[in-house]
Amino acid sequence: MPLTTPPSPWRLSVAPMMDWTDRHCRFLHRLLTQHTLLYTEMVTTGALMHGSVQRHLRFNAEEHPVALQLGGSEPDELAKAARMGEEWGYDEINLNCGCPSERAGAARAPSAPA
Ligand SMILES: Cc1cc2nc3c(=O)[nH]c(=O)nc-3n(C[C@H](O)[C@H](O)[C@H](O)COP(=O)(O)O)c2cc1C
Repeated sequence: MPLTTPPSPWRLSVAPMMDWTDRHCRFLHRLLTQHTLLYTEMVTTGALMHGSVQRHLRFNAEEHPVALQLGGSEPDELAKAARMGEEWGYDEINLNCGCPSERAGAARAPSAPA
């Protein structure tokens, strides 16, 4: 069976940006447009497994539609983090597979540069 990805329904998204697209920034973006998918900053599996889940996952209801971007290299932890994101009500779970950011690399996201 061929692997195909359905076309995204979003014509415009605001990219995930570490240290920028936190819930306050996204709220501002949502005031500017109602027709855009908003991404979180990349949240590492380590932050969710060992840090404050509320701090990393809470968002304002007004932000919808909002996608949670995850970074990590352990499949079991990524699966657990994705389920957490679903439970918290995110509209989409996105896996960081190639962000050039050094911090993403430090978090050993799957395809981050070595
Ligand atoms: C400050 C900053 C932080 C970023 N953080 C992330 C991130 O957490 N995850 C990610 O996938 N991309 C991250 N990126 C990359 C952006 O999401 C985007 O892919 C990049 O800016 C290229 O966008 P463009 O193709 O529209 O120019 C970041 C970019 C910038 C400038």
